[in-house]
Amino acid sequence: MSDPRVQSSRGECEIAVRHGGLTELGAGVLRVAPNAKTVMLAMDEAVQKPWGEQARASLEQAGFRVATIVLKADESHKCIAAVERVWAAMLQAGMQRSDSMVALGGGVIGDLAGFAGATYQRGIPLVMAPTTLLAMVDAAIGGKTAVNLPLPSGGLGKNMAGAFHAPAWVLCDVDTLGTLSPRDYRCGLAECVKHALIADPALLDWIAANHAAIEARQPSVLEDLVRRSAAIKAAVVSRDEFERGERAHLNLGHTFAHALEALLHDELRHGEAVAIGLVAAVAASKAAGWWPSADAQALAGTIAQLGLPTRVPKPVGAAALRAAMGFDKKAEGGRQRLVLLRGPGQPGVLTDPAAEVVAAGWSAVGAT
Ligand SMILES: NC(=O)c1ccc[n+]([C@@H]2O[C@H](COP(=O)([O-])OP(=O)(O)OC[C@H]3O[C@@H](n4cnc5c(N)ncnc54)[C@H](O)[C@@H]3O)[C@@H](O)[C@H]2O)c1
Ligand SMILES: [Zn+2]
Repeated sequence: MSDPRVQSSRGECEIAVRHGGLTELGAGVLRVAPNAKTVMLAMDEAVQKPWGEQARASLEQAGFRVATIVLKADESHKCIAAVERVWAAMLQAGMQRSDSMVALGGGVIGDLAGFAGATYQRGIPLVMAPTTLLAMVDAAIGGKTAVNLPLPSGGLGKNMAGAFHAPAWVLCDVDTLGTLSPRDYRCGLAECVKHALIADPALLDWIAANHAAIEARQPSVLEDLVRRSAAIKAAVVSRDEFERGERAHLNLGHTFAHALEALLHDELRHGEAVAIGLVAAVAASKAAGWWPSADAQALAGTIAQLGLPTRVPKPVGAAALRAAMGFDKKAEGGRQRLVLLRGPGQPGVLTDPAAEVVAAGWSAVGAT
């Protein structure tokens, strides 16, 4: 399979999937930003030691002057103050519009450095070098950049300020996944399962058949997994860059997941909540009559083989779940929308789902 590509209003973007690919970083940046002299290498604190030097050396070998900024990958640091630090470092390095930004890290660094790159002098060429599975198959693709904003209520408004700024190139070096924690790795697997469900049922079978090699992070299996999963997101965002329709299908399982994350934020990570949410979404698809032969328990079996949860870790009340889904706030948000499946690889949006449909989803994951 060849490397996926994204078509956007900024042109075509290749998603290069390699192992040992960081050595190609400099040459790739040169291809997409031929007039760049300085490159800002924005990197996750956690990847600086294992991967930062390789990235910097490759950029220097290609003839760039390299400025670096190290950022913390947690949601509280995905904020405008961190963006100001990046802007200041870019000014300090004397960067011009033709210069380039490389984001080396997971989704937090991609969103944050991406936003700084999208806004510095109204936008400079951006290269994503994702180092988490989630970022390789999801966050680095599609041009969404963002930071969180503090809410008047005291919480964190996720991704409340941002911009669409399609990257010029995405380089996924699957070797970098070798240093990722098992939990972060598994969270990325949940998004791979989601992509398979919405667009590629054969990929779901392949994941089930190869779960041991996936668990062992075998490089050739990782390359296939990332390439096939990234291709699905690439195709969807190429058809719907600005989320006017089809891109919403990527939210399969996420309405359930977001409710779980809101109520169980100490227990569940995003990918784990998505894993549970996917089982709920398949059960709800059956209850809605969309996919009469849907087998949520079979999906749960595959997800469990990947080491991901398929049931809520503790019971949560039905009313709290409905409220956390935002389904009680009709007057504010207009109509409620739930992404469901009409069959394998056939997503659609159900508007104002009946209470029984949502309840069937929750009950399949032991939530009530
Ligand atoms: N822009 C989009 O379209 C989009 C889509 C999905 C998610 N997101 C965003 O992505 C973020 C989540 O991304 P994530 O799951 O990659 O989280 P993350 O960036 O926080 O990374 C997860 C953890 O792994 C560490 N890490 C990263 N790469 C590593 C490596 N190779 N070795 C060792 N440790 C490593 C990080 O330091 C962090 O502790 C959220 O902020 C979310 O909003 C954006
Ligand atoms: Zn997600």
